[in-house]
Amino acid sequence: MNLNGKTIVVTGASSGIGAEVARLVRLSGAHVIGVDRNDPLISLDAFVKADLGDPASIEEAIGALPDKFDGLVNAAGVPGTAPCDLVARVNYLGLRQLTEGIIEQLNPGASIVNFASVLGGEWLQRLELHKALAAVNGFAEGEAWLAGNPVPQATCYQYFKEALIVWTFGQAQEWFLEFDIRMNCVAPGPVFTPILGDFVTMLGEERVANDAPRMKRPGFGDEIAPPVAFLLSDAARWINGVNLPIDGGLASTYV
Ligand SMILES: NC(=O)c1ccc[n+]([C@@H]2O[C@H](COP(=O)([O-])OP(=O)(O)OC[C@H]3O[C@@H](n4cnc5c(N)ncnc54)[C@H](O)[C@@H]3O)[C@@H](O)[C@H]2O)c1
Repeated sequence: MNLNGKTIVVTGASSGIGAEVARLVRLSGAHVIGVDRNDPLISLDAFVKADLGDPASIEEAIGALPDKFDGLVNAAGVPGTAPCDLVARVNYLGLRQLTEGIIEQLNPGASIVNFASVLGGEWLQRLELHKALAAVNGFAEGEAWLAGNPVPQATCYQYFKEALIVWTFGQAQEWFLEFDIRMNCVAPGPVFTPILGDFVTMLGEERVANDAPRMKRPGFGDEIAPPVAFLLSDAARWINGVNLPIDGGLASTYV
């Protein structure tokens, strides 16, 4: 995939899938800036340390990013074993604050890729709630909305991945028409990363046993990164507002 001359920001670049994306995108010719709360373990062109669940830290990170760049990969995330308010802040509210905050720093033709999950697949069941949350303006308003519409801990990971998919669907075309910026989601199935065990704990043995025969195996980070690089590239210039499963066919078995 040719990403020559592009500058791409990758959140979550210090572990797992984000690190694999950063590595591949850099090898494909891009200048890569990582953003993470932890220091990176791979070579990057630049790194911004930030807590993407904290609005003040996100604002600082936005200021530290270049005036103009060509892509944002929102791969930072926490599993549902984390407290629900942290899942809300990192996986949804902070992701939105960063993305909305840098939108005018993106060049025409830029691409945003948001990490959803196969576990966000039931977004249609709570569509009106997700649309209402998508309509809020800013992190603080989002927190206030969630205080009035509490999300159960047991399914908060799924809820905020669903919400991310619905926000992406609702927002993508407006930015494409106005700024020529595309935004898509990817929805991995289980992937061998440090948080895979958290997903097993979070889902419980019954769900894991139900999914096991539907899968060849969990994926590897280097099987997730290439479709993300494709979505960042000009070859995907007519792909906007989709949620792309990268799951070895797992989601198709739920139909
Ligand atoms: N691993 C899977 O099975 C799987 C499946 C579907 C979707 N996903 C999604 O893929 C993305 C990457 O997950 P992963 O498996 O590589 O996890 P990971 O834990 O290996 O990496 C997540 C990265 O996000 C960073 N991060 C977490 N909270 C942060 C914060 N507050 N501020 C800044 N950085 C923060 C971590 O430091 C880490 O580097 C996540 O959005 C996750 O929800 C993972």
